[in-house]
Parts: sequence; structure tokens; C-alpha cells
Amino acid sequence: SRRRLFGLGAAGVAAAGAGTLAVRSLQGEEAGPTTATAAGSGTESAAVPFYGEHQAGIVTPAQDRLHFVAFDVTTRDRAELVELLQEWTAAAARMTQGQEAGALGAVGGLPEAPPDDTGEALGLPASGLTLTVGFGPSLFDDRFGLAGRRPQALADLPKFPGEALLPEISGGDLCVQACAHDPQVAVHAIRNLARIGFGRVSVRYSQLGFGRTSSTSRSQATPRNLMGFKDGTANLKLEDTAMLREHLWAAPEDGAAWMAGGSYLVTRKIRMHIETWDRTSLTEQEAIFGRNKGEGAALGMAKEFDEPDFAKRGPDGQPLIADIAHVRLAHPSSHGGARMLRRGYNFVDGSDGLGRLDAGLFFIAYQRDPRRQFVPVQLALARQDVLNEYIKHVSSGLFAVPPGVRDAGDYWGRGLFG
Ligand code: HEM
Repeated sequence: SRRRLFGLGAAGVAAAGAGTLAVRSLQGEEAGPTTATAAGSGTESAAVPFYGEHQAGIVTPAQDRLHFVAFDVTTRDRAELVELLQEWTAAAARMTQGQEAGALGAVGGLPEAPPDDTGEALGLPASGLTLTVGFGPSLFDDRFGLAGRRPQALADLPKFPGEALLPEISGGDLCVQACAHDPQVAVHAIRNLARIGFGRVSVRYSQLGFGRTSSTSRSQATPRNLMGFKDGTANLKLEDTAMLREHLWAAPEDGAAWMAGGSYLVTRKIRMHIETWDRTSLTEQEAIFGRNKGEGAALGMAKEFDEPDFAKRGPDGQPLIADIAHVRLAHPSSHGGARMLRRGYNFVDGSDGLGRLDAGLFFIAYQRDPRRQFVPVQLALARQDVLNEYIKHVSSGLFAVPPGVRDAGDYWGRGLFG
């Protein structure tokens, strides 16, 4: 019996049976089940260490679920903001190890106070929870005396052609990225940080994500995005230590000493017009990315991890990977070697009231300097990528993600405020 992937395969069988259309199978005749969803086995419930040189949640093998939140700081008191970051750090150190947000049972240990943990993660394991904090450009305005400390790499992103950004789901003074293998654990963590922050910060927007769209370790199978393509094949990975030093981690010589060991985060909520995509032929879909859909190999190559050969031409003399294919436009060779670490998630926020799924990619990328990495790549994509017919960028975020918390005496952002 034929095993085919995706609804397309079934449609192909029906169509071929009717003798009208021949549709290619993505995986060949006898392919086994996809392994792309395997995110690790027994390790999924384990705790990820919280303390370290870098914050967890960047090169940590991408977990399956996301709850991302951006906050506006509502207090104008710098001391209160620092106190909040200290309280958040303590709660994060506990929650990432599978413990409750607070140790006292009730806030301040007072019997009439509400519980210092909301309770919905009681009995659940740590589930690989990581909490990663970032500081947005607006934090460096005149409120907290930080204007002189804004890193040059945290330069506002330019306006990109075709984007339709909604301010209410863009920006933010602070962000926290919660990733876990259990959505309840990720949501619990963000909810408790928001609860702790009451009166000092307010939630500006938050985004749930599922089905990581990237691998950040060679131990992981490459997952698929909602367009059905393997995503994360040519990503920067945990094991590429030398490349991480060059492309991911901010260094003392970059200018803002307090950021050394940190990284810069760009988020883009990218809506996909998936109904239009689903009516596009397989050949066209593959031409748009420059990779095939089943294996994920660059066009003209056999295996997923074979390097693309952009010089290869087909019998018609045209490049096998078009000049305007996504992987050519985004490839380091088109941008002086620039790479980034992608760590995005799928989202489906219900439907849009017009009979379409409100779905897409919550794009997350970490890098040493967005001015040399995200910005030129996105400019090329925004100008030329054929994928633009099927997507729209609706939100944008930029954050300086400070280095890791060293020990229990340290806190998120100590280098900036201390
Ligand atoms: C590669 C999908 C947006 C940067 C890829 C690949 C896919 C993909 C399927 C090939 C597999 C891989 O190497 O990961 C998408 C989709 C997007 C999107 C569906 C929007 C909905 C973006 C954006 C950027 C970006 C906004 C950055 C500005 C890259 C890079 C590569 C890549 C750097 C690797 C290129 C290489 O070295 O071969 N993307 N992408 N992508 N994408 Fe995207």
C-alpha cells in the first residue's frame, strides 16, 4: 500500500485514480512515518539549568511550545524596576527547576495575601522550561537614566517594504520568552511573572506558539512549518561553538560591555495566507523556497543537509535555485557571511472571521548585531522574495537579551542597572 504524507498525497491518489492529474508523492512510495515531530524522548520533562554564562532558551534545543510576552513598564521608579527584575529572577530560577514561583505559600508570607503561585503547574515536571528576558529600545528613553547605556546594536529596525505592523502587538520595554515542552508550564510561568509584576509592568501583548519551526541542535530532527516545509535545516546550532562566538554572542569589543555574553532578539509575527498557499502547485512551492518539500534538500541536491549549489543550472539553462528563491536570498553568501539563530514557532490564533485561519510563523531570531544580520537579510527578502505573496509581517520586536544569571546573588540585567 502507498504511504503518502499530507492531504496532498491523498488528493494525488484520488486525482491519479480519476486519470486527470499526476501529483508527485513527497516521500516516495515506501517512506516511513515522519520523524520531524520527535523533539527528544524522556528528556522532555527534565529541567534546564537556569544559571550560566548565557541565558537559557537561546541555544537550548528548541522546545515544542512557546509563550512570548512583551511588557510595558508602568512605574517610573528605577529602584522599583530593579526590584522587579530581582523578584522575577528568583521566581524564574525556581519555576525553571519545576518549583512553584514563590517559596512562602502566600505573598510575603502573610496569611490574608493571595497565594504566591497560581497553582496550575502543581505536580507538573519542569518540562524543559526556559525563561529568557530582553530589554527593548524604549527602556532606554529618559525614564530610568539608561539613555547612555543603549547598545548601538539595539538600533531601531528600519521600515521594511510590504510590512503592515500593528503597534499594539509590536515593541515593548521588556520581553520574556517562555519555552517548554508543555504549554501549561510555559503559560504558568508567564502568568506568574505578570502577577509578580502587577503595579510595575503591564502586559502589552503575548503570543502562544507550538511545533517549533527550527532546530537549534544537531540532535534534533528538523520540524516543519505550517507551509509544510522543513524549517531550521541551515540554522546556527548549539554545536557550532566557533560560529556562535562569531554570529550569536555579543562580545566586550562590540561596545556595550554589559551585553557581553548576551544576544539581540528580533521577533516578527508573520501571518501566512495558507489557503492561497494550499492552492499552489508543489513545483511552485518548492521553487519559492529553493528546497524540495519531502526531504528538504536544496533543489539539485539529494539530501537535506547537502550544501545548496547556487551555480547549478537546469536543462533550460536557468538556475535550479532561482535568484529570488527564499534560501538564496537568505543565504550567508548573499550577505557577507551573516548568519542568525532562528527559533520560531507556528501559531494559529483561531480564525479571522472571513473563513480563514489566523495562522503563521512567530519568527524569532538571535544574533550578535541585527544591523549586520536580520536587517540586510530581511531587506533582501522584503524586496524580492516570492514568498511575500503568501505572507505578511504584522508585528515586530527588538530586544537586547543580557548575559546569563551567574548564581543566586545575581539577577537579570545586573550589568545594566548595577
Ligand atoms: C531558510 C521558511 C521567514 C531567514 C528557510 C527555509 C525555510 C524557511 C523552509 C529552508 C530550511 C532552513 O534552512 O531552515 C520561512 C518562512 C518564513 C520565513 C515560511 C515566513 C513565514 C524568514 C525571515 C528571515 C528568514 C523573516 C530573516 C529575515 C532565513 C534564513 C534561512 C532560511 C537565514 C537559511 C538560509 C540558508 O542558509 O540556506 N526559511 N522563512 N526567513 N530563512 Fe526563512
